[in-house]
Amino acid sequence: MPPTLAELNSLFASRHSCRAFLSDPVPRAVIEQIIETAQKVPSWCNAQPWKLTVTSGAQTETLREELLRAADAGGHAPDLAFPTGYSNEYQDRRRTCGWALYEAVGVIKGDREGSARQMRQNFSLFDAPHCAIISSPAELGAYGAMDCGGFVAAFTLAAQAAGVASIPQAAVASFAPMLHQHLGIGKDRIILCAISFGYGNPNHAANSFRTERADLDDFVDWQD
Ligand SMILES: Cc1cc2nc3c(=O)[nH]c(=O)nc-3n(C[C@H](O)[C@H](O)[C@H](O)COP(=O)(O)O)c2cc1C
Repeated sequence: MPPTLAELNSLFASRHSCRAFLSDPVPRAVIEQIIETAQKVPSWCNAQPWKLTVTSGAQTETLREELLRAADAGGHAPDLAFPTGYSNEYQDRRRTCGWALYEAVGVIKGDREGSARQMRQNFSLFDAPHCAIISSPAELGAYGAMDCGGFVAAFTLAAQAAGVASIPQAAVASFAPMLHQHLGIGKDRIILCAISFGYGNPNHAANSFRTERADLDDFVDWQD
């Protein structure tokens, strides 16, 4: 019997992006189960274009150091161009979730140092013990990225079902050249994002807010 829609909705509703992790590692068997669950998503031609580079222990620490060094040096160079802008409702939603985070961690409007400090947490992977870097074959273009997006969402949900908190991070993909070199990811692949994961710190202010979703009428065009 497949899970009911209500059960699935309850799983989806309980997930959120975690921005403060405990240091305890996730057992390898649990990580494998999460990946095996997530890989059941559909992909065009069943190409399953995602590849994951998963760090644990000392490798996560080294990655954190490399990312912080790259962030300090500057030089944003993602393989996949970041959005050129967010307009209208997209801008509103972006602002709302940004301010919810800043409010939760006590960064007030105009506190540029505080917001930069919070942004920098991306590069320390929010202290997560594990990071999965997601890449797609360059030749598959946007459709490879689309398939990988489905995988990323499924990973976060499977992780939630396993009691593991996670956060997809495009910010990490800013430093694609370093990631290719440091992690040995071939230039024939584009690095899309990271997923930092581990056990969430429920008492940390950064995990104290939740985001909202639009009403169906705002994005569904019913043509009966
Ligand atoms: C592809 C992708 C990239 C993201 N990149 C970042 C990021 O770099 N930093 C961050 O703090 N959150 C990032 N997020 C998390 C989103 O901000 C988050 O999913 C959104 O605000 C909805 O909140 P929720 O995940 O808690 O439901 C990303 C999410 C996705 C799907």
